[in-house]
Parts: sequence; C-alpha cells; structure tokens
Amino acid sequence: MTSPLLSVENITVSFDGFNALDGISLQLMPTSIRVLIGPNGAGKSTLLDAIIGHVRPSSGRVVFKGRDITHMEEYRIVRDGICRKFQAPGVLESLTVMDNLNLAARRRRECWRSFSRGVAGGTYEQAERVLKLIDLAGKRNLPAGQLSHGEKQWLEIGMVVASDAELLLLDEPAAGMSHGESEQTAALIRELSSQHSFLVIDHDMAFVDQLDAPVSVMHMGRMLKEGTLKEIRNDPQIAAIYLGRDKEASVA
Ligand SMILES: Nc1ncnc2c1ncn2[C@@H]1O[C@H](COP(=O)(O)OP(=O)(O)OP(=O)(O)O)[C@@H](O)[C@H]1O
Ligand SMILES: [Mg+2]
Repeated sequence: MTSPLLSVENITVSFDGFNALDGISLQLMPTSIRVLIGPNGAGKSTLLDAIIGHVRPSSGRVVFKGRDITHMEEYRIVRDGICRKFQAPGVLESLTVMDNLNLAARRRRECWRSFSRGVAGGTYEQAERVLKLIDLAGKRNLPAGQLSHGEKQWLEIGMVVASDAELLLLDEPAAGMSHGESEQTAALIRELSSQHSFLVIDHDMAFVDQLDAPVSVMHMGRMLKEGTLKEIRNDPQIAAIYLGRDKEASVA
C-alpha cells in the first residue's frame, strides 16, 4: 500500500486563545487532488499556513513524506517539496514568461518570491516542459506583465511545478477568473496531478466540480465531512452551515 504524501494529524492552532484549527486531520496521497471548502473563517487558509510552517500548531503533527515537519522552518519545508500559491499572482512582471520559468527551475525548491538575483543558467529543459504544460509556448518571450490574469496564474502554477514541488497548496486559484479561464485552470491542475499533489481551496463550486476530486468541508476549525462533491451537496448538515450567510459560497 502506498503511504500518504502528507498526513495532518489532529492539529490545533490558536490565536490568542481562539482555536482557528481545532483538532484537524487530513491525508493526501501522492499524485492526488484534495479540495477544501467551508464558510469564511472556517480555517482553510490557516490549515495551509500550518502545513507550510507559517503558523505553528500547539498540538498535533504534520508529516510529509514520512518525516515530521511540524516544527521545521518554513524555508526548509519549501525546499523539502511543498509550495504555496496565494490568490494574487506572484510572477515577475518585467521578466518574460520563459525567464520566470527558468528562474523557478533553477531555484528548485526555493520559493521564487524571494528571488532577487539574475536568471542565467536556468534548467532549460524543465522550463521548456512546463511551458508546454501551461499552454504558454506562444507567449514565451512576452513580459509576464502583459499576460491576462488567468495566464499569470497558470504561469505561477507552472513556476511551482518547474521548481519541482511535490505538493502544491493553492488558495483560491480560480478567484477573479472568467468561466473559461477557470475551466482551463481545473484542466491544468488535473493534468499536473499525474506528477504532483494538490490541496486546493476554492469557493467556486463549478470550479470544484471540474477538479473532479474528493472534497473536505471545514467549519469552525474542524473537519466536518469528506466525500465527493455530490455527497457534500446532498448533505443537509453542510447545507445548513451555508444557510443565511449570503456573502459566502453556496453548495447548492
Ligand atoms: N494571524 C491571525 N491572527 C488572529 N486570528 C487569525 C489569524 N489568521 C486567521 N485568524 C482567524 O482564524 C479564523 C480562520 O481564518 P482563515 O483565514 O483560516 O479562514 P478561511 O477558511 O481561509 O476563510 P476565507 O474563506 O474567508 O478565506 C478566522 O476567524 C480568522 O479571523
Ligand atoms: Mg482563506
């Protein structure tokens, strides 16, 4: 039996006595996708923060590739193969698409956000492979600043892939995208999941549906339910937690 790539074991994260995460557990197998949904404030982003070492659990463990990383420094966790992508694209706008990828490939397993030096000597083949995957080969020489919002997001996902991260944590990757762009993003994530694992937060149920992956529902720092999107949609308890909160996503 394959062992999990990531195992979050009963973690609690407190902010001034308030438990943003309250005994959360989650397992993710290699080359798989898991979607996290839940109302605003459920603790989804905090869970990603805890996995990558940005916040520290007061109890419980995070195990990655069989190793306890709960108290490892964030940069070491990134080097070990976990990368987090935020909602806003983090590409270097004045560099070309290809240079962004080269830079990421060269600095394998280091977070490209901290890149400050030049781009010479990139791992060209790796960048070339990713360029095709993200379907931007025709725009390789354009400055990244000239890409559409969706294309920037794909480039950034491509940069994480080029850096060889095994686990990608994506916080609302389809936010602000057109319907077509979010469809393409889901297709890209599905394609990349043959070699990488993804933990994806999103409120957009059409996007979640396209990811076609198991869904975990969080609520008030706890894991409420895990299942297919269909199971989640048909669950009265889940429907109830979204009711009366008109600013949030509906699972209907
Ligand atoms: N650094 C922090 N200090 C204090 N409280 C925090 C901090 N980060 C998060 N929280 C609180 O923890 C809870 C969970 O927040 P989190 O951002 O993880 O929710 P979320 O599920 O990602 O919500 P959203 O869907 O709005 O992004 C919220 O009540 C939030 O106010
Ligand atoms: Mg969040």
